[in-house]
Amino acid sequence: MKKIIITIDGYSSCGKSTLARQLAAELNYTFIDSGAMYRAITLYFLRNHVNWNNAATVASALKKISLEFVFNPAKGSSDMYMNGENVEVMIREMLISENVSAIAAIAEVRTFAVAQQQKMGVASGIVMDGRDIGTTVFPHAALKLFMTADIAVRVQRRYKELMLKNPGITIEEVKNNLEMRDYIDTNREISPLHKADDAIVIDNTDLTMEQQLKKALKLVHEKIK
Ligand code: DC
Repeated sequence: MKKIIITIDGYSSCGKSTLARQLAAELNYTFIDSGAMYRAITLYFLRNHVNWNNAATVASALKKISLEFVFNPAKGSSDMYMNGENVEVMIREMLISENVSAIAAIAEVRTFAVAQQQKMGVASGIVMDGRDIGTTVFPHAALKLFMTADIAVRVQRRYKELMLKNPGITIEEVKNNLEMRDYIDTNREISPLHKADDAIVIDNTDLTMEQQLKKALKLVHEKIK
């Protein structure tokens, strides 16, 4: 069967990665979480006190970062490795979420990440989720999805997930973080988050994960038949 590139863009905590992972498993495709790359770069910058307001400092720091997705059979998906270290758990922490959108808005950072993402798509058969995948990374992708959901529903879903690791976290903190990231991601100068003209919107406010997957699979089959 024909293998295609599927892009999934949308706001924070809309379930993009969940859908991308499920689609990849169903279709035997590779799932790539592009946000993990921006998160790993953010971790490096914070750890090494990189002054990200200085373009030259950013450029020289990026030269020292090597990113790799390594398949984790226990999970059935890949973990993010930075300079040989598995950083998958660390990059999901709140401190990273608080800084990642500002760092992902930097021109040098985007050039660095996008060049690697485009190479990953060469073999086709991939599902990549992010903010600019259908608009900038793979503007010619065969199927583009744009996910959205009610903010209250997104906050609840994210809160439940973060609570397990950090019981002290408040709904307010989660809501502020989602709103701040959506604002920066949508309003940045370089490849801001917006729906590609040919993307299909999936609003999953009232959809179960099964319903959402079914809907997306139907769209995939229409493309590859
Ligand atoms: O998908 P995520 O929430 O893990 O992404 C973290 C941040 O990275 C997000 O707030 C914006 C940035 N990002 C981006 O700018 N472009 C992408 N393709 C993916 C993520």
